[in-house]
Amino acid sequence: MSDQTSAPGTQPLLRPVQLGALELPNRVVMAPMTRARATNAALAPTELHATYYAQRAGAGLLISEGTWVNREAIGYIHVPGIYTDEQTDGWAKVTESVHAAGGRIVSQIGHLGAASHPDHQGGRLPVGPSAVNPQEMSFTAEGPKDTVTPRALTGAEIADTVRDYRKAAANALRAGFDGLEIHAQGSHLIAQFLNPRLNQRTDAYGGTSEKRAQLLLDIVEAVSEVWGGERVAVKLSPYWKTGPAFTADAEALADYDLLLKRLGDSDLAYLHLVGPAPGTHTDDTFTAFARFRGHYRGAVVANLGFTQATANELLERRLADAVSFGAPFIANPDLVDRFAYGHPLADGDRDTYYGGGAEGYTDYPTAARS
Ligand SMILES: Cc1cc2nc3c(=O)[nH]c(=O)nc-3n(C[C@H](O)[C@H](O)[C@H](O)COP(=O)(O)O)c2cc1C
Repeated sequence: MSDQTSAPGTQPLLRPVQLGALELPNRVVMAPMTRARATNAALAPTELHATYYAQRAGAGLLISEGTWVNREAIGYIHVPGIYTDEQTDGWAKVTESVHAAGGRIVSQIGHLGAASHPDHQGGRLPVGPSAVNPQEMSFTAEGPKDTVTPRALTGAEIADTVRDYRKAAANALRAGFDGLEIHAQGSHLIAQFLNPRLNQRTDAYGGTSEKRAQLLLDIVEAVSEVWGGERVAVKLSPYWKTGPAFTADAEALADYDLLLKRLGDSDLAYLHLVGPAPGTHTDDTFTAFARFRGHYRGAVVANLGFTQATANELLERRLADAVSFGAPFIANPDLVDRFAYGHPLADGDRDTYYGGGAEGYTDYPTAARS
């Protein structure tokens, strides 16, 4: 195991790595984090976003917050999209600032599907794989509300949705991002399609584990036509547990084993995998990543609950190629330097995780270098 205070470059986290066509100077990735600061009607990122991401450009790779691929995708307030020219122009300012600060940034694109709420949809029902309520909460302008029974997407609407992912991917390319990550984790639309309790379709997109994965594979193919597969990534959370639908049981994990094998054929830049939350599953983090490695033949970015020490150990054991950190990047914009020089980490204020302005967003200081 690595010495936490060793000189820069010697601990595994600080070694360079190539993920597809992405060349990272270190293996510390900033995980995608929705911070709900797009308080304008256009849902476009602003100068504040550009400052926030540039402050964190020391990461080997930044992943943007999840951004909407179309209007139907919207499921939280003040979260930016990437489906209009105004939004794309805002993102161009973000990528410019990150590049000027020496960083690299990929765009995360997503769709909340049935986990949205009529309040986000002008009173209309949200869309999902089938008319089954995911029984989650949606964060609306009036506070958290229970989700409702959605409307099932028609086959033609699925084709339209895939086209919207492709257009969002093209906008991300135009905005100057270095790559694209497809948000397929948590309770989002793609994870809803993968789930046999929420996806009860009998067409080409449901009925078997293979068919439930078809939407994701169609989207990977569509965005890869824009980007080339070596700059495309997917974020998945096989161990996700929430509500009655997402159970992370043996059957669900076996479905993901199969999906990981199939995604190996897509030659992605990396697969971003979320392991079990500590204490929520009989599999621990190292067991989970050994399992993922057994089924996926490409590069893996590991996530959830890592510390500098556990991340270095995972990399030392070659169970992943890089590790992403979410919450630690909120209050530690210079996280890589803190790992390099052994500076203590600051705690973020949870009250300012989502929404508001600069407070709790761009006002966390860097540690003085020793
Ligand atoms: C404030 C916040 C917002 C998040 N938003 C997103 C998001 O937009 N897309 C996504 O894939 N994950 C999102 N996540 C999950 C993180 O990417 C990551 O999986 C999670 O924080 C676990 O990593 P950590 O233990 O290092 O924080 C969010 C997490 C936090 C704390």
